[in-house]
Formats: sequence, structure tokens, C-alpha cells
Amino acid sequence: MELRIDRQAMVPVVQQIVDGMTEWISRSGVAPSTRLPSVRQIARSNLLSQSCVAEACERLVAQGVLAPRQGGFMVAAQGRGVIGIDCGQAHSGLKLGEGGLPQSWRESDDLSYAIRQVARTDMASLFNYSSPLGLPALREQIVKRLRLIGVEALDEQVLTTSGASQALDLLARTLLKAGDCVVVETPGYAPLFELLRLYGVQLLEVRRTPSGPDPQALEALLRQFRPVAMFINSHHHNPTGSCLTLGVAQQILRLCNAHDVRVIEDDVYADLHNGNGTRLAALDERVIYVGSFSKTLSSSLRVGFVYAEPALIARLGRIKMISSMGASSFNEAVLTTLLANGAYRKMVQRQRQRLNTDRVAALQALEDADWEVFGKPCGGLFIWARAPLGDTGRLHSQAQCNGVSLCDPGAFSPSGEPSEWQRINVAYACDPRARQFFRSTGVNRPQAF
Ligand SMILES: Cc1ncc(COP(=O)(O)O)c(C=O)c1O
Repeated sequence: MELRIDRQAMVPVVQQIVDGMTEWISRSGVAPSTRLPSVRQIARSNLLSQSCVAEACERLVAQGVLAPRQGGFMVAAQGRGVIGIDCGQAHSGLKLGEGGLPQSWRESDDLSYAIRQVARTDMASLFNYSSPLGLPALREQIVKRLRLIGVEALDEQVLTTSGASQALDLLARTLLKAGDCVVVETPGYAPLFELLRLYGVQLLEVRRTPSGPDPQALEALLRQFRPVAMFINSHHHNPTGSCLTLGVAQQILRLCNAHDVRVIEDDVYADLHNGNGTRLAALDERVIYVGSFSKTLSSSLRVGFVYAEPALIARLGRIKMISSMGASSFNEAVLTTLLANGAYRKMVQRQRQRLNTDRVAALQALEDADWEVFGKPCGGLFIWARAPLGDTGRLHSQAQCNGVSLCDPGAFSPSGEPSEWQRINVAYACDPRARQFFRSTGVNRPQAF
């Protein structure tokens, strides 16, 4: 077991051993209950002290990756369950490709205040089921926010959901049937691909460019396969961070309308955008729009929404009640409080400013290390970039040596095709471990930090 410990790295040696062993277990595909080499052997072959290796093994036992066995250690029964659902990222180390803000960036003061306020004053939200379309006061607030981005919504056109995930699920159940073809972007958001496959839907991949889905490729797909729907991230696309331009948006709408394809705009990163930008739903009232508060306020509150024509919203509301008895009115009341008292607006402003500063620094660090960037993002969380060394396996090992974990190479492809491109989360990219990792991948450049 070769662990590649970097004694110059800022990550403590024991942590590097933990990360290295976790990576080794998940990459080498060892079966559960396989006995590991002894602590002495691991220490000797990696020029480490036995006490460091023993401490790392104890930490891995605590994490459920290893189990003790007759004077040594073996891979635990669930030892390989270290892969996250979003991007197949190992849980150890700095999650450079993470899909949300770090916990340290989240703000709890206003949220705690709103939770106490609702608990004290709103008995109905504390105890009762919600109504099919969701809390009226929240839907009013969402309508106001939609107007700010040019979407002229009415209250009966908005349905609250348990995160954007439930919105996507309700739409898939309602609009699609097994055997239908649906267009998705590649690279794209993997849980959407899995969700559509659960319903037996066939995925057609359209390449994402820095200005949106490739219209020519889309036209070819529409002519050949007659898909019924298209899912698209307009702003700060996951994983490339790119935004749709007005020209591409108009072409997409023209094509989809001509071929009678429903457009579902998933805009969960909307509030991290500086300014207004182009929204498909603002250009065409037939577009179905999905939003969420997971990426800014809290992923745990699970509040999202759908905007669509009233008849579809009513159908979605019925299915929402059948499948979940509605969303949490307590969580919705908490969010409503923060939207109504202005705390949410100020919080996202602070998040955007912080992201803007860190994005500039991250882009500079990547440029200094000769990484290629896929269209410079103008907001949001992600940078999509490719290291100068094309060897993905080596890149992952180098990341791991610096205490960094990257997303699986095939994590963003509908067909699982491996890619050399990495999703870099701006909010993690200024951590010293990330900086050290970028430097270690540069081609003989002077150090920038
Ligand atoms: C593009 C996209 N859509 C939907 C979701 C799900 O969001 P929620 O937490 O609101 O369910 C995510 C979460 O990462 C996402 O990146």
C-alpha cells in the first residue's frame, strides 16, 4: 500500500495517512473484510512511524471505514461507502468539488432568530400539515422574487417543494413516461440523470458550451429523436459555472417551441448571481422554472419551488400531497420570516461579495498553475477547469497528497464517460490545501502564494 505522504504539505501526516488509506480502499476495490497489511508493514513501506499509522487506523475505525481484527485491521463491511451522491467525492480531505457552500460560510444568527420566532408565534406552522401549493405567504414572497428577474408570476403559478429535488421529481412523474426521450446537458447534474432513469426515461445529451447548450447539437437531437422535454441550468450551470447568453436562450426557445418540447429551467444557483441575467422563463411563459433556497440559506431546510401555468401547478400539488402530504410548513414559515424581514436579501449579498473575492483569487491560482478554464464564470460557486497534466489518476493522487478530494472523473456525464475537467468550488479554493494542490500541478512556474 503506497501512501505518497508529502512531508512539506500543511496537512498533518496522520490526516494524510487517513486520506491515503481511504483512497486506496475505494480505488483498489478491495472486498469488505479484507485484512490490511500490518501497521508495522504499512509504516515500514511508507517510511512512517508506527504510532502515526496506528492512530490513522483508529480514526478510520471510528469513521466505519476499517474494523479491528486480531491484532490488525480489515476493511469494514460498509468500508467502501465513502462516495457522496452528488459527485462521487471521497469524504476525506478538503472537498474541492463540493456542490454547496461550506458550513463555515452559512450564517446561523438570523436563521436561529426566525426559528425561535416561528416556534413562539405560529402554532399552525409548528403542528399542521401544509396545503397542496404551500404556505401562501411564502408563495407571495417567491412571486416578488420572480418579478425581480423578469418572470411575471401569479400566486397560483407557484408551488413550494421540498427542495428543487422534489420539484424535479414531481415534474418527471407528471410530464414523463417510460420510454420518453429527454434532453439533458453534458456535463450536468448527476442526480437528475439518475432520477430520470428511475422513471425509464431515455437521456439525450447536448453539450454545454460556455454560453449555454450547443444550439446546433440540440437541433440535430430534436429532429432525430423527438424528445418531450429539455432540462437546463440557465445560471451558474452545475458543474461548469457558465451562464446562458440571450442569443443562445432565444435559439433554444425557438427550437424547443418549433419541436413542441417542454423546457424545464433549473435555476438553483440564481441568488448567487450578480445582477439579473437571462432567464428562459422571463422570455417565454411556457417555460417551467425551478428554484431553491438550499444553496444560500440552508440545504437542510429543504425549501424549493416550481413556477408553471396554473393547471400544471394544480396537478403537481395533487401529486405532492399523494406522495408526501405536502412540504414542511414550519420550514416554509421560517424562510418566509427571513424573506419578509430582509435578512435573506442581505445574507445573499454578503455571500455573493465573498464569492466574488474568492473567485478572482481562485482564477489567478489556476492561471498561475497553467490550468485551462472553461469560460471565466461571472458569479456562482463553480469554476470548471483542467490541469496541465492530462493524467487524471495522477491528479487525484496529487490532490490526495495535499489533503484535497476531487469529484469522480465520470461524475457529471450522463453516460459516466470520464473527463479531465474538474468542478472547483470557489468557496473551497482559497484553502491552503487547495492552493498547495494547484501549485503542485503547475508546470515549473514560480510560486504565486
Ligand atoms: C443543478 C441542481 N439542481 C437541483 C439541485 C437540488 O437542490 P435542492 O437541495 O434544492 O434539492 C442541485 C443541488 O446540488 C443542483 O445542483
